[in-house]
Amino acid sequence: MDNDAQRKKVVLTCVQPTGKLHLGNYLGAVKNWIAYQESCECYFGIVDMHAITIPYVPADLRKNVYSLAAQYMACGIDPSKCNMFVQSNVVGHADLAWILGCICPLGQLERMTQYKDKARKHANNLCSGLLYYPVLMAADILIYNADIVPVGEDQKQHIEITRDLAQKFNRTYSDTFVLPEPYIPKTGARIMSLQSPDSKMSKSDPNQNGTIYITDDADTLRKKIMSAVTDSDTAVRYDEANKPGISNLMNIMSSLGGMGISDIEDSFAGKNYGEFKKAVADVVVEALSPVRERYDALVADKDALNKVLSDGAAAAQRRADRIMSKVRRKVGFVDTRAK
Ligand code: TYM
Repeated sequence: MDNDAQRKKVVLTCVQPTGKLHLGNYLGAVKNWIAYQESCECYFGIVDMHAITIPYVPADLRKNVYSLAAQYMACGIDPSKCNMFVQSNVVGHADLAWILGCICPLGQLERMTQYKDKARKHANNLCSGLLYYPVLMAADILIYNADIVPVGEDQKQHIEITRDLAQKFNRTYSDTFVLPEPYIPKTGARIMSLQSPDSKMSKSDPNQNGTIYITDDADTLRKKIMSAVTDSDTAVRYDEANKPGISNLMNIMSSLGGMGISDIEDSFAGKNYGEFKKAVADVVVEALSPVRERYDALVADKDALNKVLSDGAAAAQRRADRIMSKVRRKVGFVDTRAK
């Protein structure tokens, strides 16, 4: 185990390349990674191997990988300060997943909430990769011996199983892995659909008016926010149980605009929902317009994206190799390859 107290903390986190980032991905995850780049050794992955656990089109996957790299950068991820890489380009993730799978109780995987949700959605087309998904995610984290994993609330259970597997490996084979800590932001960790504020915002929402994409243009953003579902009350007040739509909009405004929830309540006292929604739309448009402009320029330069991802994968591979050579030795694998 790395005991050097002076060393930089290692941060690892990833997103699936399954389409455009939505506001939940941005506020719950990517926006919070930016500060870590200044003081930590950061690895930001594009997890294409996770993305093939549900039906997909290979050509779209290819396009989505580049698109996600450009979106990371448009959001403020700076490849000169971090390592951005594609998961399948770093050898070792799947190997470690296999090793961890061999100490992971099957029942624990069957109980994972996201697995149960996705298994229900894909009942006619359920692959074992979906069950194995959290083990691969644990491998993504442990192969870099990450200290911190910044994620939205829906990933909490996956970080817990990662810690369980790290502990079990350490007990079985001797100390190897750091136990990673999740970083889950206070606001923005669970952004809800604008159309059904009882479910989280997601790319696969059948009603796409409920999902704000970071590359939506200003008109689309305004339309989606103005048509957000609210309630029959009139007060702009935070109450997740009884006013989930308004509370969600308050969370969005607070996370993007920086004002506290009670400041929002004070400034909209006596005002109607229409005025409040217009103010939320202004904050969202102001925050996302520059992201969209940067994205359009970045995604057009595929050579530059290839260079960023190839440098990132090389750095990630160096760290992964160091940890994997210890892992292989400890589990008893011999290495007969020519040195
Ligand atoms: P993914 O691609 O579904 O989501 C990427 C990140 O966005 C967060 N997020 C949200 N945050 C707030 N509100 C929402 N509505 C919302 N929806 C998504 C997620 O919590 C996540 O941080 N399993 C992961 C990908 C992954 C990973 C990893 C993450 C694979 N290996 C290793 C961290 C470390 C996933 O599906 O994220």
